[in-house]
Amino acid sequence: MAQPVDERRRVYRAYRDSSEVARVLVDDDVGINPDYNNVPDVGASGLEIVFLEVHEAQRGSGVGRALAETLRWRHTGRRLVAYAKKDADGFWATLGWIRHVHADPANSDWLTLFISPAL
Ligand SMILES: CC(C)(COP(=O)(O)OP(=O)(O)OC[C@H]1O[C@@H](n2cnc3c(N)ncnc32)[C@H](O)[C@@H]1OP(=O)(O)O)[C@@H](O)C(=O)NCCC(=O)NCCS
Repeated sequence: MAQPVDERRRVYRAYRDSSEVARVLVDDDVGINPDYNNVPDVGASGLEIVFLEVHEAQRGSGVGRALAETLRWRHTGRRLVAYAKKDADGFWATLGWIRHVHADPANSDWLTLFISPAL
């Protein structure tokens, strides 16, 4: 039987000096669009980052990287999948995740897809 959405989704929060500095929502149910170039079949190992947000005042100080890397180690063996927001491509690329673009280059509405390398 399929899991209800609430059981598939989890929120993690990151704190610095007792204040929340970032939040991430992950979903066991990964939706990889097959129209992206060279996408691997991640199957049940996939874990989608639905959103990852660092508090504005904390950006640029390594919180996003630390959170993404913590998630990766916490879910060893999973392939983390994220559709990058328009101006966040560089963030995911810096982490060394594999970049996939949509097969239709003429349509710039498609977000870039990033998948973490297998651990
Ligand atoms: C994108 C976001 C999560 C980055 O978090 P952060 O804590 O500022 O990032 P870090 O300080 O950990 O940066 C890690 C690396 O990514 C780079 N980077 C961060 N944001 C970047 C961006 N928007 N574009 C290009 N590179 C970026 C940093 O320069 C740094 O590189 P370095 O390690 O080589 O010096 C944060 O800006 C944010 O919450 N943005 C709004 C929501 C969003 O876009 N979330 C992404 C979901 S798709």
